[in-house]
Amino acid sequence: MDNYEIMRRGQEYVMNTYGRFPIAPVKGRGSYVWDLDGKKYLDFLGGIAVCVLGHCHPELQEALKAQAANLWHISNLYWIKPQVELAEKLVKLSGLGKAFFCNSGAEANEAAIKLVRKYYYRQDQAEKHQIIVFKDSFHGRTLATVTATGQPKYQEGFAPLPKGFAYADFNDLASVEKLITGKTAAIMVEPVQGEGGIHPADQEFLKALRRLCDEKDLLLVFDEVQCGMGRTGTFFAYQNYGIKPDIVTLAKGLGGGFPIGAMLASDRAAAGFAPGDHASTFGGNPLATAVGNRVVELITAPAFVEHTGEMAIYLRAQLNKIQDIRIIDIRGMGLMLGVEFDREVKGLVEACMDQGLLLIGAGPKVVRFVPPLNIDQAEIDQAMAIFRRALQEWK
Ligand SMILES: Cc1ncc(COP(=O)(O)O)c(C=O)c1O
Repeated sequence: MDNYEIMRRGQEYVMNTYGRFPIAPVKGRGSYVWDLDGKKYLDFLGGIAVCVLGHCHPELQEALKAQAANLWHISNLYWIKPQVELAEKLVKLSGLGKAFFCNSGAEANEAAIKLVRKYYYRQDQAEKHQIIVFKDSFHGRTLATVTATGQPKYQEGFAPLPKGFAYADFNDLASVEKLITGKTAAIMVEPVQGEGGIHPADQEFLKALRRLCDEKDLLLVFDEVQCGMGRTGTFFAYQNYGIKPDIVTLAKGLGGGFPIGAMLASDRAAAGFAPGDHASTFGGNPLATAVGNRVVELITAPAFVEHTGEMAIYLRAQLNKIQDIRIIDIRGMGLMLGVEFDREVKGLVEACMDQGLLLIGAGPKVVRFVPPLNIDQAEIDQAMAIFRRALQEWK
């Protein structure tokens, strides 16, 4: 069987929701994957910021195998040991109070939206239910999270959309203030917008949102599904800003490739939920949380954090050296970088893939670099050599 054969069968049997590239990676080790034709690729997209430790990390394999030998699934009607351990780790790292587990980023954000509403409902302020979100944001594909997503192209054809969202301009405090009414309950924001084109929030902007939420009794929700888990150099992106949200969501890197999502909240906000208010059959499943515990242990080790920081500086320096008049900006934080061009980058992404480098866009004109956090200098050099060659080919 080869790439072509699996693509042909995929087109016949898999629902047509993705514009897919014509390869089928079947094996991964570290920063590399191999497709069905045996071709090797350097993976600088890592499942879109998921594979924080690369592919098939031996210690994650060990954690998964050990848990698989003991208990795969048990209902949340009981205490799940690795879930409790992961909750404790995340609570201590975040400075928040409680964790809720689910299976994806959209679910984590859906949980956050529900918690915001229930929190004010419990205080007899059910009229306070509106959430201010941002243009060019991305929060997921469920009906509520796609509505929270400030990009109309994702919403088209899904009307009627849930009510209760208002859209401000990212990094523009005045546009947020203008939207605040007696109905406003929360502000929900990605500290670094991912899908919208790798846009970090300004320091002053996030701090001002925190102040605004304190003054007006609003909850501040950070979506760190893409920018969390060490991606920006600190475990949570907000730790670069010296502030703390009331609620933060994680997914992607939390399982290093095993599906898991989480919502963390301060004890005050978490009191919005009581037994029966929210649930997920698989949320915090023993396999997912056993892997999650190991991911968190590995990526918070001081030597690991230091290495990630060094690689982030190195990658950015190499990108900055590239001379190409089509590049109009290079931006991002840590190992979440974007190179913006003056034209659509689909052809460039394809040229990189042909030459053995997997990358993905973030919006039409930005190429995104979200490699494993344990990437090394030689791998960055290799990626840059391919990227330069692809730029030359790309007309
Ligand atoms: C910031 C952000 N939030 C939410 C999501 C949705 O996550 P999932 O695809 O796991 O539902 C994504 C996915 O790209 C994301 O980048």
